[in-house]
Amino acid sequence: MVILRSSESISWLDDVDETGQVINPRHELFGKSIAGTELHIPGSSGSTVGSDRIVNLAARGHAPARIVLGRPDPIAMWGAILGRIDIEIPGSPTTTVDRAKLRTLGIDDEIAELLARAAELLGTEEFVPADHVQVAGVSYKTITETGLELRRSFAKRYRFRSPNVTINPAGMDLEDWESMGVPGDFAEKQREVIELYLRMGATPTITCTPYLIGSMPPPFTDAFLSESSVVAYANSVLGVRTNRESGLSTLLYAIAGYGPKYGLHRAENRAPRVEVRVECDLHGTVDFGLLGYRLGEVVQGRIPYLRGINHRPTLEELKVLSAAGAASGSIDLFHIEGVTPEAAQRLVPLDRIEDRISVDRASLDEVKRSLNTGRPEELDLVTFGCPHASLNEVREIAGLLDGRKLRAGVRLWVCTSRAVKDLSAKLGYVSTIESSGGHVVADTCMVVAPIERMGPRTTATNSGKAAKYLPRFCRQNVVFDSAEEIIARVVM
Ligand code: F3S
Repeated sequence: MVILRSSESISWLDDVDETGQVINPRHELFGKSIAGTELHIPGSSGSTVGSDRIVNLAARGHAPARIVLGRPDPIAMWGAILGRIDIEIPGSPTTTVDRAKLRTLGIDDEIAELLARAAELLGTEEFVPADHVQVAGVSYKTITETGLELRRSFAKRYRFRSPNVTINPAGMDLEDWESMGVPGDFAEKQREVIELYLRMGATPTITCTPYLIGSMPPPFTDAFLSESSVVAYANSVLGVRTNRESGLSTLLYAIAGYGPKYGLHRAENRAPRVEVRVECDLHGTVDFGLLGYRLGEVVQGRIPYLRGINHRPTLEELKVLSAAGAASGSIDLFHIEGVTPEAAQRLVPLDRIEDRISVDRASLDEVKRSLNTGRPEELDLVTFGCPHASLNEVREIAGLLDGRKLRAGVRLWVCTSRAVKDLSAKLGYVSTIESSGGHVVADTCMVVAPIERMGPRTTATNSGKAAKYLPRFCRQNVVFDSAEEIIARVVM
């Protein structure tokens, strides 16, 4: 068997194509096939639906034959467990989970066995109630037919025992998919995915910002969240305790009503390991997205402690910082001096910091240059709302478009939750955006909608996370800039 080793984590959604070829030119393994190999990687970065991608690769015979991980990583782990791929995490403590004890908690035999297997790989024997679960892997585009089949089989046999299960964005606006231009065959599959989740007992939040619509547990409580930006925001800004779970692990924990206690559930694992000094002034969400993206690239899976940010960040700035850092690297938790709850309350020890790095304007400019792969004059789709737009962001876009018209041939989407769209409609923002020729799109986003089948070739975004996924996962050229700059380029 060919042994492939990389010091870089893999983002299964966009570093690897459906044949197992590594397609990210910036990845060490670029050009190599992971199919049939023994693959040694530190873990997974980026999207938490990577576990579905692994199951999919396995179903088509393109997965690695064996995966060896450097750290506990639910994304690769659950992909391997459900894809029947041999997996090992050499550094994990050896544990043996008592299956009978799990069954006394009312957990079905099959699910108890899967949970026990996962806990043993993670090196823990302890389980806690999974009262708050966010499940990713809702768009048919991300889970594909293999993922749909897997969910059909679980929905036939199980209901969620967790009382609060929220779900991530789907691949289309469920009420308005036709005017988005979503193909009918996709819409049919997408509706079935949503029906399966609702049948199992999910709340139809269908957003990656559940924290904007009141759906998040109190600080210092355990949760099981997938969707990497929610994980980083909940851990860092809200002080909730969650690991970066995968779409499949949260599905299983929601069915069991319990999940393993490990990693960031434990206070001692939340200490920062690297101090990051921000040496330039930051202005607005674009700068915070660039900072997050840069952090993801340089901290290499360690928890950063940020100093030197020139103002108290807004909710929107923290939202894009969380999303970009989780997408470009695997930042599940960051602390900002005097701002985030554990840092502000001095609950994290600073004596474990092993490295100090700085971020300056030149490094942020370099990130911005690397994200811009498209030409502004070729734009055919403009998108905002990654993560899903807050009410403030919808208002800001409406203000920028007020009284102006989009250039012919340019579509514009503001992506948000149904709850925020409804409120925006009441406040008149939706009609302002529609009068300019744009749309407020609920339940979905520019990345998980099948835009590669819908015509656009060059897409604008003000989100570092969207700029990361659009090129390879959505086959788009990207224009990355602030909302003001983008809108100025596409209105008459
Ligand atoms: Fe959300 Fe889609 Fe961005 S799921 S975080 S808007 S890629």
